[in-house]
Amino acid sequence: MATNGDLNRKLRMALVGGGSGSFIGRVHATAAVLDNRAALVAGALSSNPERAKASAPDYDIPEARAYGSVAEMLEKENALPEDQRIDFVSVATPNFTHFEIAKAAVEAGFNVICDKPMTFDLAQAEELLKVVEGSSAVFAVSHNYTGYPLVRQARAMVQNGDLGEINAIRVQYIQGWLRSKLEDSDQKQAAWRTDPKKSGAAGCFGDIATHAYNLGRYITGLLPEEISCHLRTFVPGRALDDYGTAIIKFENGALGTVTASQISHGRENDVMVEIDGTKASLLWRQENPNEMIVRANGEPHKIYTRDPNAPYMTELGAAACRLPSGHPEAFFEAFANVYRSSYDAMAARALGQSFEKKDTIYPNVYDGVEGMYFVQQCVASSQENGVWLPLKHAAARR
Ligand SMILES: NC(=O)c1ccc[n+]([C@@H]2O[C@H](COP(=O)([O-])OP(=O)(O)OC[C@H]3O[C@@H](n4cnc5c(N)ncnc54)[C@H](O)[C@@H]3O)[C@@H](O)[C@H]2O)c1
Repeated sequence: MATNGDLNRKLRMALVGGGSGSFIGRVHATAAVLDNRAALVAGALSSNPERAKASAPDYDIPEARAYGSVAEMLEKENALPEDQRIDFVSVATPNFTHFEIAKAAVEAGFNVICDKPMTFDLAQAEELLKVVEGSSAVFAVSHNYTGYPLVRQARAMVQNGDLGEINAIRVQYIQGWLRSKLEDSDQKQAAWRTDPKKSGAAGCFGDIATHAYNLGRYITGLLPEEISCHLRTFVPGRALDDYGTAIIKFENGALGTVTASQISHGRENDVMVEIDGTKASLLWRQENPNEMIVRANGEPHKIYTRDPNAPYMTELGAAACRLPSGHPEAFFEAFANVYRSSYDAMAARALGQSFEKKDTIYPNVYDGVEGMYFVQQCVASSQENGVWLPLKHAAARR
């Protein structure tokens, strides 16, 4: 089959961030090419121009396309002939830089895959939404947990009505790596995440509660109405929250809770979602991502495994699998599914065809705005001792 259908070529990717010593840039680079539908051809890999260029061989990026800055990259890529120029820019830099980079990339004509939280604050997110709406760009946000096959299976089952009316959503993201004041050592990931000038108004809640909140919204599609939140900073001297719980009222009467922690001893990346419906409940955890438990009173508990050929798998769930059941798929594959889902739209754009921008399988700029509104309202509610605040945003209604 031709690569990317009628486009009949790979999409060309540029990576921003991912320089030596960084974390998620390498994951983007690996996930993006997993299905052989894209090639990494250019990059501005670090905030330090020398390190940016020196990191390029780690990704097989040729010297001529290893840029010292994003501005240089966008200008020089746009000067290349169309059949060499990049198609999309992946943004894997600290939060405070996302807006400027993503906006410039869209304005320069490129598609964007931006990491979360989408921007530094809600005002930037709303402005970025306007820029994207005024363009023909494909814009994805790498809420990568949405790419797990059984998360997509859960979405299809909930939205098909298999669980009945949804009454309750419990999502959590529990880590322990910031139990000590790691930011005082030479740990760069801890340093910027706990700095309000670089991370945003929230620490733990911006970094990981945004993933958890997005997961509940992604699976259920329920519209949020109001939120009450308590954030805490348990490590003395830390500038941002490292623990918190939010309660969300949804429009249909359902109640949701989002708990996120970075101070729970021994906990790694326990992303968990539990959903209670009138007919059944489901449970999925990313540390055991190839199983999902569905329970109904009076029936044996059902363990759904990630089996692309099983009759119980929905089309959406099966399409997200690559391997036969029993061969574990995990973080890279889920991340790659966010990429893969956006590639059809990118290919359509390159062919001058129309494509869906709002109701997409991959999290998009509207989800990014919702995430920033969630963070803003959590911080504001917490500052007023958990007062109930609205959580209705036009981005959720699309
Ligand atoms: N989706 C996920 O699961 C996931 C996981 C981890 C991090 N993230 C997000 O990814 C982003 C990066 O996190 P990280 O942990 O990889 O950070 P990191 O500190 O490890 O790496 C950031 C990289 O960006 C570079 N950089 C900074 N400013 C730049 C600029 N203006 N131009 C070019 N490069 C620049 C740095 O030099 C570094 O190489 C954050 O927004 C974070 O929230 C997402």
